[in-house]
Amino acid sequence: MSNDTVLVLGATGKTGRRVAARLRLHGTPVRAASRSSEIRFDWADPGGWDSTLDGITAVYVVPPPVPGPVHEFVARAEAAGVRRLVLLSGHGADTWGDSAFGLDMRSAEEAVRGSALEWTVLRPSNFDQNFDEDLFRAPLAAGELALPAGAVPEPFIDLEDVADAAAAVLTEPGRHAGRIYELTGPRALTFAEAVEMISRASGLSIGYRQISPAEYTAALIEQGWSEDAAQHVADMFVLMERGVIAGTTDGIATLLGRTPRTFEDYVVRVAAAGTWRR
Ligand SMILES: NC(=O)c1ccc[n+]([C@@H]2O[C@H](COP(=O)([O-])OP(=O)(O)OC[C@H]3O[C@@H](n4cnc5c(N)ncnc54)[C@H](OP(=O)(O)O)[C@@H]3O)[C@@H](O)[C@H]2O)c1
Repeated sequence: MSNDTVLVLGATGKTGRRVAARLRLHGTPVRAASRSSEIRFDWADPGGWDSTLDGITAVYVVPPPVPGPVHEFVARAEAAGVRRLVLLSGHGADTWGDSAFGLDMRSAEEAVRGSALEWTVLRPSNFDQNFDEDLFRAPLAAGELALPAGAVPEPFIDLEDVADAAAAVLTEPGRHAGRIYELTGPRALTFAEAVEMISRASGLSIGYRQISPAEYTAALIEQGWSEDAAQHVADMFVLMERGVIAGTTDGIATLLGRTPRTFEDYVVRVAAAGTWRR
């Protein structure tokens, strides 16, 4: 147990709230921050950053969706006496080549990895929880998920494993300095296989249909997304279809000394809670 205070950014989000809960249970003082949190933190308002960083030893960084601000944040963190940064990035971030996807995460990595602080980068693959806490939940509840993804599988990871990894790195000073962990689940699945498992476990009739990236972009715009945001998500699928990030890694085993949770485990948990019912 340590008395060092950890600043958790994105504290109301899918990873931040899980990381904060683990740290509190561990006895680590937590400052949980985001735009809507009691402790307010806004990537668009650097004027408020210094007071949020005051007295902080380590930061869990969920980067902003635009390239740039993390450079200034790292400089402020260094000036405030922060010692450690743990950045949430994405699987295979240095293999994305000329893809327009992930410029935000690559910029954040550059800032964190270029800092004088003790840093660690976590690079998880697509989250299991995208199917119930995010983008794919509404289409599944409506009976069909349509995405520009075909035969190339994705090594979906359970966010409980991502949070276990982040909490371990944040509470083990020195052990993970300068390390980049590629984090995946134990097995890669196609989206069609994932949806079939969700349909079987929930007992609901839910189908999967492959569409083109252009059709997906148009569908998101029709749902009210901006053209830029829709294109960004579609670019992620184009990148995934190249197959370079389809493999599994031993990141969870290296960090936590155990195998990652299976997609089956995730699916039965969520199906039992009734989350995919209309
Ligand atoms: N989904 C995936 O499969 C996947 C896989 C790998 C990596 N990632 C990366 O994971 C990150 C998202 O993490 P997550 O899923 O834990 O978060 P999330 O569930 O998307 O929630 C976003 C969090 O950031 C906060 N936030 C949003 N805008 C902000 C701003 N301008 N200033 C300060 N805080 C802001 C939100 O809280 P407020 O609204 O209260 O500010 C919320 O706490 C992204 O960088 C994404 O690229 C995602």
